[in-house]
Formats: sequence, C-alpha cells, structure tokens
Amino acid sequence: MTFKSLGPSAAAFPTPTWVIATYDKNERANVMTAAWGGIVNSNPPSVAVAVQPVRYTYENILVKREFTVCIPSETQVKEADYFGLISGRDEDKIEKAGLTAVRAEKVNAPYIKEFPMHLECKLTDRMNLGSHFVLIGQIIDVKAEEEILDHKDSIEIQKLKPIIYSPTDRSYYAVGGEIGKAFTAGKEIKDKKS
Ligand SMILES: Cc1cc2nc3c(=O)[nH]c(=O)nc-3n(C[C@H](O)[C@H](O)[C@H](O)COP(=O)(O)O)c2cc1C
Repeated sequence: MTFKSLGPSAAAFPTPTWVIATYDKNERANVMTAAWGGIVNSNPPSVAVAVQPVRYTYENILVKREFTVCIPSETQVKEADYFGLISGRDEDKIEKAGLTAVRAEKVNAPYIKEFPMHLECKLTDRMNLGSHFVLIGQIIDVKAEEEILDHKDSIEIQKLKPIIYSPTDRSYYAVGGEIGKAFTAGKEIKDKKS
C-alpha cells in the first residue's frame, strides 16, 4: 500500500449529522447542524460538540448551559442541511422547516419532535481549540421514539437510519448493514494459536 500525505485537515470518518437545539435568552428555540462531535465519556455519559463562537448556538449554550443533541433520520436530510445554512439570529429555522420544537423533559432546551431521538445535555466543560470551542455535555437522558427500539428497549441503528457526514466531499451518506458483533468479531484472531 502506498500512502500519500494530504497534510493536516479535519478528515476523519464517519462524522455524525447532529442537530444541536437550544433556547436563546428570550426562550426562542434554535437549531444548528453539527458534524464535529462524538461520545467522549461513559460514566457519566458525555458528549462533545465543537461549536464556533460566532454561532448563535454557542451564545445560547453559554447562557442556558443546557442543550439537546437531536439525531435526524435519512428522510430528514434536507432539514438537517438547512439548519446549517443560516443562523437563528436571522430566521426562525424550525418554523420555516415545518418542524416542531418541544421543551425537553430534563433540561432547559428544546428538541425536534419529528427527529427519532435526542440527548438531553448539561454543559460541564469547555475548551478553546482555535476555530471551535469543544463543549462537553453530560447526557442527563436519552429519548428515543418507540418505533426505533427493539424488544429490549435498545436503539436499532437500522431503524434510526442516522445520517453520516463525509467532510472530504461534503456529502451525506446512509448507514449500511451490520458487518459483525463488537468485542466478538476479533476473537477469531485473539484465539488463534501462534
Ligand atoms: C453538515 C454540516 C456540519 C456542520 N458542522 C458544524 C460544527 O460541527 N460546528 C460548527 O460550529 N458549525 C457547523 N456547521 C455550521 C453551522 O451549522 C451553521 O453555521 C449554522 O448556521 C449555525 O447556526 P446558528 O447561528 O443558528 O447557531 C455545520 C454545517 C453543516 C451543513
């Protein structure tokens, strides 16, 4: 294999297509698309999202210190993309997209009712990395539509159909099928006699 050096860039795969929902100082709901984010702690469960300080969302999170991370499904790609095209300072994005903001149960932040799941988060930490601030949110609760749950109340990725963002071609992709069980698929190599 021949590797070509491409220089430093924010190219890693997969990145999510998440929608961060907040209230502004006047309790007006706003949403923004975020691809720079991931789960960063198990106990307490925590998520990191990287938000540029110029975003209205950043201002809102610093004021309210609470937010939700809403996860849209494949069919909602237009709405998810639109939320990243304009600021909530200039437009009521949720109304224009024909979606519904509902107050979350455990945090002072809205969620998008039509999206299949959301994480209710409290801001616990913040780090300036340059262009973006990493905001750490402790996940207070996870809410999921019943239709995406299996019989053990576990979220099924094939029913959720989350949107993958590819930062190199700036395009959205769907999730493919299962290719193996984690902590199991590798056992064949682990148990191989050398
Ligand atoms: C696919 C996609 C991913 C994005 N990811 C981020 C991100 O991780 N962090 C960020 O600060 N902005 C990101 N943006 C840009 C914001 O969503 C955009 O600037 C938005 O208009 C900000 O809205 P607000 O001012 O209402 O908060 C992304 C946009 C798109 C389309």
